[in-house]
Amino acid sequence: MTLIALVSAKGSPGVSTAALAFTLTWPAPTMLAECDPAGGDLLAGYLSRYELPTNRGVLPLASSALRGTAEQDLAGNLIDLDSPRQQRMALPGLTEPSQSSSLNLAWTSLGDLFARMTGSTVLADCGRLAAANAPWALLGRADLVLLTVRARSLRTVSPAVSAVGAMRRELPPGFVESSVGLLLVDSGISGRDISRNLGVPVVASLPWDTGSAAALAGEGRGRRRAPLMKAAAAAYDSVCTALAVSRPEASRRDTERLPVIR
Ligand SMILES: Nc1ncnc2c1ncn2[C@@H]1O[C@H](COP(=O)(O)OP(=O)(O)OP(=O)(O)O)[C@@H](O)[C@H]1O
Ligand SMILES: [Mg+2]
Repeated sequence: MTLIALVSAKGSPGVSTAALAFTLTWPAPTMLAECDPAGGDLLAGYLSRYELPTNRGVLPLASSALRGTAEQDLAGNLIDLDSPRQQRMALPGLTEPSQSSSLNLAWTSLGDLFARMTGSTVLADCGRLAAANAPWALLGRADLVLLTVRARSLRTVSPAVSAVGAMRRELPPGFVESSVGLLLVDSGISGRDISRNLGVPVVASLPWDTGSAAALAGEGRGRRRAPLMKAAAAAYDSVCTALAVSRPEASRRDTERLPVIR
């Protein structure tokens, strides 16, 4: 239905934290797909306290994609983050970054699969664009790419300039203008200035909230009403607005809205 990819330029501005916060708080069915070639965080982080099967995830699904069976095999590779409701699902990422080259041939079919999925908004954590084996073919199939920027100062924003340049080179003509937006984290400088410098609109902002971020990394318990979780939930409407502008056919809100988990 809707594929939203989250990326960063370099550094660790909080892409994985934001993707998980969106997955857990948006008022619609979601699926977090860990597509970062540097590896996934969920199994060793947020889900580390559970005994979960380790043979599920993007790597076996990529093999299925190459065999042409990804659609049938998708459900068996997911983990229910809100069991047993199956409304907030996750596709765990690589456990070994050295496996990332073997995903290269599968990104086109996985991107098509995620973009076609009915009933869920797929949030793909695609990691750093400067990394080897970035999933460009998947990004080109996204309805919206959120370039995540730690906006503390001009120094933390500057790597985003080359990331926007790389997107202009690697993605289809006009894609950056229509389908890329900024997700600002820890914004200490004006969003309008950042947007003007990068030529990309600001879609949403998330605050710096170490307690919630630690809980999302599996350390301690988070609170639904904490600043990061409230801002993540509020970002849903801004993202829907950005989708309506970028790709009108992809902007349909999910008809089923979920109650907020407390
Ligand atoms: N909004 C936030 N408030 C406080 N801490 C945060 C926030 N977002 C992320 N962090 C912390 O910053 C660190 C990096 O976060 P995260 O792993 O989400 O970044 P990333 O961009 O996915 O990095 P990488 O490219 O290494 O995967 C973690 O320790 C995380 O807990
Ligand atoms: Mg990450």
